[in-house]
Amino acid sequence: MRAYADNDYPADHKPDWKLIAGLWPYLAEYRGRVALALCLLVLAKLATVATPVALKYIVDYLDQTQAADMLLWIPVLLVLAYGGLRFGSTLFSELRDAVFARVAERAMRRVSLRVFEHLHQRELGFHLDRKTGGLARDIERGTNGISFLLRFTLFNIVPTLLEILMVAGILLVVFNASYVFAILFAVVVYVVYSIKITEWRTRFVREANARDNESNSRAIDSLLNYETVKYFNNERYEAQLYDQDLDNWEQARLKNRLSLAALNTGQALIISVALIVIMTMAVREVASGEITLGDFTMVNAYLLQLFIPLNALGFVYREIRQALVNVERLFKLLGDKPAIQDAPGAKDLVVDNSDVRFEQIHFAYRPDRPILQDVNLSIPAGHTVAVVGASGAGKSTLARLLFRFYDVDKGRITIDGQDIRQVTQDSLRSVIGVVPQDTVLFNDTLYRNLAYGRPDASEEEVHRAARMAHLDNFIHSLPEGYNTKVGERGLKLSGGEKQRVAIARVILKNPPLLILDEATSSLDSLSEQAILSALKEVSQQRTTLVIAHRLSTVRDANTILVMDSGQIVESGSHNELLAQGGYYANLWEQQHRSDDNAQSSQ
Ligand SMILES: Nc1ncnc2c1ncn2[C@@H]1O[C@H](COP(=O)(O)OP(=O)(O)OP(=O)(O)O)[C@@H](O)[C@H]1O
Ligand SMILES: [Mg+2]
Repeated sequence: MRAYADNDYPADHKPDWKLIAGLWPYLAEYRGRVALALCLLVLAKLATVATPVALKYIVDYLDQTQAADMLLWIPVLLVLAYGGLRFGSTLFSELRDAVFARVAERAMRRVSLRVFEHLHQRELGFHLDRKTGGLARDIERGTNGISFLLRFTLFNIVPTLLEILMVAGILLVVFNASYVFAILFAVVVYVVYSIKITEWRTRFVREANARDNESNSRAIDSLLNYETVKYFNNERYEAQLYDQDLDNWEQARLKNRLSLAALNTGQALIISVALIVIMTMAVREVASGEITLGDFTMVNAYLLQLFIPLNALGFVYREIRQALVNVERLFKLLGDKPAIQDAPGAKDLVVDNSDVRFEQIHFAYRPDRPILQDVNLSIPAGHTVAVVGASGAGKSTLARLLFRFYDVDKGRITIDGQDIRQVTQDSLRSVIGVVPQDTVLFNDTLYRNLAYGRPDASEEEVHRAARMAHLDNFIHSLPEGYNTKVGERGLKLSGGEKQRVAIARVILKNPPLLILDEATSSLDSLSEQAILSALKEVSQQRTTLVIAHRLSTVRDANTILVMDSGQIVESGSHNELLAQGGYYANLWEQQHRSDDNAQSSQ
């Protein structure tokens, strides 16, 4: 079972180090700042490496000068220098961070925007397959990963190497090669150990992330389905499922922690052994008078100082690996081409009178389940064509294809003779107004939701559209009127109110082509009649595709098509279809009988 579609990295997946080079464009924007930060970095390291030298001279002066000859100002000056260097090393590091902060933050901003735009370019199918909770976390981790990589490769790995080289140089000059070898040996053992153990641990980290994603997706999905959960009294069931996920997460995190403890302990052991060995070497040389007490202090200071960044190196290496995996996933997301793209050199759709044709359309969402088969339909300019038929027959699919949420498998759809795959999506979608079957609203005010149809519309125009959609009475009855918040996905409005918002939006958009997918299905008959007449006004002169279950709403259409299992089985005007005595006539008969019953029982 594939529990989480996005976790398809094998456990031994190696991070791609070349990705680091891919970050250069984000740095290039602020070349000057990067250079300045690097200068500050070198200054900071120089100060760090010079500090133990100052210490050595203080100790040597105090140790080797006879009390009678002691000039107090010399050690005091040295102490001042010692303190100054220590402070300098911190000061330059902080300045470096301050200078670089803008680069990292700007990079995160750029990436976030790119991802956002990319996600909006992806096709509908992609979004239906995705789990929003998991996706959001992948994005968050990826952008954080980029910032981490930028900051830590430049400002941790590079300076640590620099420091090791400088210290090795000084030790070679002041002492002898055996110290340099001992320290380098310890460093190599430490680094190799850290890398190996970190690689072993990566699977636990990844596992913990995957379980984290899973439980999060589950929680979000469950909360989105709040009402459904209540309808079926399934709170306990939901909690159980969630707790199972949390249990997995807990186990994964536990392994993660334990393996981290193993790593840290091993690192500490290596450092301590190195300290003991090298200090013993130094002790012997002090005893035999080969080096001074000041030298001894200096070696000690270097050892302690050198392993501080190295200590972080294990952490940084691990985090860099993780960041690389996260960034790779993000880049992969960015690299995936949208399934629906503008054809190369696509031109804008030119709409004359908007005559729509579906020619021998075959379509399937998945190859193993054909939906539309050989569908032909044409909506002459200014005409209204209605599509009726059983639930699941493929009516809304027609609308999605015309809007180019999906591409047809065979055949073609044209508007004024232009294949919709050959024109830009932007121009295509700008001429089509859709009142969808399920309207979802933004969690914002009613006004903002209405104005979404044309964000630059004037207040007057928005109010007019609301009036035409028969929303004005409703809005006036609200204490906060147009400023009422509609709740997440618009859940604080009734189904019919949401539908009217959708209609008002389309009125505001004022496109030459209309798709009304069950646009009035949630309204009572009275409001429906009122809105239908408004819609009729809007759809006059416009090419309109109406999808409906209630036949009374489509009897005036120029042509009515009856769909069954992805095929058009009847077509004609209302009267022609009644005369044929087929599926439509039957359905009409049934709906009328139930209408009559409803009326007589009132
Ligand atoms: N994204 C999808 N992936 C796979 N199958 C889908 C997808 N969307 C719809 N379908 C399937 O395609 C078929 C046609 O769906 P469509 O929404 O066009 O039906 P419809 O005629 O509008 O039905 P209704 O009257 O209930 O709205 C349905 O059986 C549905 O399960
Ligand atoms: Mg539908």
